[in-house]
Amino acid sequence: MFLSMEKGEIKNNITIRFIDLFAGIGGFRYAIQNAGEKFNLKVECVLSSEIDKECQKVYRENFGEEPEGDITQIAAESVPDHDILLAGFPCQPFSIIGSLKGFEDARGTLFFDIARILQAKKPTVFVLENVKLLVGHNKGETIKRIMGTLEDLGYHATYKILNALDFGLPQKRERVFIVGFREPCFFDWPKKNIPMKPLSEILEKNVPKQYFASEYIRKKRLSKQSPTKEPTIWHENKAGNISAYPFSCALRAGASYNYLLVNGERRLTSREMLRLQGFQDTFKIICSYTQTRKQSGNSLPVPVAQAIIENVFKACGCAHTDYFCETDKLIIDGQLRLMHS
Ligand SMILES: C[S@@+](CC[C@H](N)C(=O)[O-])C[C@H]1O[C@@H](n2cnc3c(N)ncnc32)[C@H](O)[C@@H]1O
Repeated sequence: MFLSMEKGEIKNNITIRFIDLFAGIGGFRYAIQNAGEKFNLKVECVLSSEIDKECQKVYRENFGEEPEGDITQIAAESVPDHDILLAGFPCQPFSIIGSLKGFEDARGTLFFDIARILQAKKPTVFVLENVKLLVGHNKGETIKRIMGTLEDLGYHATYKILNALDFGLPQKRERVFIVGFREPCFFDWPKKNIPMKPLSEILEKNVPKQYFASEYIRKKRLSKQSPTKEPTIWHENKAGNISAYPFSCALRAGASYNYLLVNGERRLTSREMLRLQGFQDTFKIICSYTQTRKQSGNSLPVPVAQAIIENVFKACGCAHTDYFCETDKLIIDGQLRLMHS
């Protein structure tokens, strides 16, 4: 059995199994499915976990299966074998992680739940996502502990802050991604060279009145910022200053309703928020505006995750377009093998 290449397209019959932890509305799953499609690789989700009922509903509607609930209640041994672990873990336990000394000490944090699954199942690769703040937290101690714990588990891990703006999305969203491999291998962070989509491709036309801010708020905005010719998103910072950009500042789950206003006058619609994270219009919206706003604010920039996963596939030797490769050599002992460095 060979990977066959026709006009740059790879055909093969391997299935890459992944688990989707802290799944939210499935940003990571969306990204790996897109990457799989791009390289003509079959990807299969063997476990998803998400505690929030509203997210679970959205996930079921869009991916055809309801995630299991609380990860802390899932025994690591019961997690199916998988090649890739994906997790956009919540930032809530930072303060706890900051004082950790190692794996055992991580008990009681949600990062520990990732670590215990890595320890029990030893997937070939993991990709984790978190807020940029993680890197500077506790003077760099927190990320140092996390990387140390991953290393103790036998992983060769590296992290990088990437901005959605550099991957085609008109959203300034900086996130830290951590990628780890069970064995040393060739892995490159994706290049930042995708031109930003113009806001006009994101914004909806004929937006209903209910999205418009009150006269009072609009006047207040106009007292601090002049209208712009091209569409802009007006951002109010903590000090109350207003800036207008041809892109959105980071969507945030818990921000005030007037934190981001299109042209200083209206809120983003549910569809616009999902577009700003890279979800296509085929992604079904089934929750209230408030829930979708929270979910999209918590989700990840899909094209960034996709670009990373594509490079993970390349590191695993299953996405080369320039030579033929024996399919059976991609799987060793039932798991994806790596291209060794
Ligand atoms: C930062 S969000 C990740 C969102 C996801 N990457 C996406 O694309 O939508 C973290 C998610 O973890 C979920 N979560 C928090 N505690 C959890 C737990 N104990 N078990 C499972 N999910 C949990 C939250 O409900 C939230 O949706």
